[in-house]
Amino acid sequence: MDTIEQFDSHVMQTYDRLPLVMESGSGRTCTDEDGKRYLDFGSGIGTNSLGYCDPAWADAVCAQVRRMQHTSNYYYTKVQADFAERLCQITGYKRVFFGNSGAEANECAIKLARKYSFDKYGAGRNVIITLRNSFHGRTMATLSATGQDCFHNYFFPFPEGFVYAEANDIDDLLKKMHNNVCAVMLEYIQGEGGVVPLDSKYVDQLYDFCAKRDILVIADEVQTGVGRTGTFLAGEQYAKKADITTLAKGLGGGLPIGACLANGKCADVLTKGMHGSTFGGNPVVCAGGLAVLEQVAKPDFLAQVLAKGAHIRAALRDCQEVTEITGLGLMLGLTLKTKQAADVKQAAFQRGLLVLTAKDKVRLLPPLNITIGELDSGLAILKECLSQ
Ligand SMILES: Cc1ncc(COP(=O)(O)O)c(C=O)c1O
Repeated sequence: MDTIEQFDSHVMQTYDRLPLVMESGSGRTCTDEDGKRYLDFGSGIGTNSLGYCDPAWADAVCAQVRRMQHTSNYYYTKVQADFAERLCQITGYKRVFFGNSGAEANECAIKLARKYSFDKYGAGRNVIITLRNSFHGRTMATLSATGQDCFHNYFFPFPEGFVYAEANDIDDLLKKMHNNVCAVMLEYIQGEGGVVPLDSKYVDQLYDFCAKRDILVIADEVQTGVGRTGTFLAGEQYAKKADITTLAKGLGGGLPIGACLANGKCADVLTKGMHGSTFGGNPVVCAGGLAVLEQVAKPDFLAQVLAKGAHIRAALRDCQEVTEITGLGLMLGLTLKTKQAADVKQAAFQRGLLVLTAKDKVRLLPPLNITIGELDSGLAILKECLSQ
């Protein structure tokens, strides 16, 4: 039995996979079972922020594995303390809760927002407005929070308390702002929704309104965070600081992590026994996360992310097939004139380049430390696929 047959016989068939069995990775390149190499412009959906097996990251992770792989949250570890402190310093938040994924980070944010409101205003003020075309995860509550009807199927009953407003439409948001609303949850750039950014003016109006009514803003930066857009948080480019920000994907450099950051207003709302996660803040993951922060949270590094994003845009400017490029930094969506994004992904794969899709766009989320030379090699392949 070959690997794909073995895999498909035993793993639930919930993903549409390319026929690629990855065996190893180094830098921005991975190698399959037959030794074929692929340049990766997807980084495990924005997760391998430092590429495959970055030496400093791997050293930190391996050293921690040898020191201690896990302990429960009944005890303290220095590495979790260091990681939390550094993350709070970088982002300006007061406290963080660690889970294992983006969905879990958002679950924490949902509980936190409702509890904040319960403590202050009593029961009943618990509705969270999310935006149409958003994506917040696959747990029951985060599916409910996701503002796309196609996700609200089969698994009934879904948790209540989510109302959807059209993105970039302030009138629709205000129409839905009843007295039972405790929070608004947004992605500055809707990633899974097709790399669709929110308008600055809309974000300004939304924040102003929420501040006046003591409605918390939750920024889901699971995909946009940790330098992906060229600033540590995408919110910086909107000059906004949400009450709660969630992070995941790129934060662990490829290890499973989710982080829910809270400002002074709501950092102490969840108290002992109200939330938890066996693996949350695992020492190995925190060691990996610290190694990511060490490299990413530097002005030069972030400026490079912006420059590389601009480089991609410039390289694709003369490509007739690309009618629009959306996104910020190294989170980009390409709108195609005639081709199907899935066909382009397939053609690139045949030529040794991995790209992603999001809705009908080709999506690029290369590792943040990709070189200009590697970008040029990948873009040459991509342009070939777009022009054939
Ligand atoms: C904005 C956003 N939020 C939440 C999630 C869910 O993250 P996870 O798959 O780690 O649970 C994703 C995943 O794509 C995402 O893009």
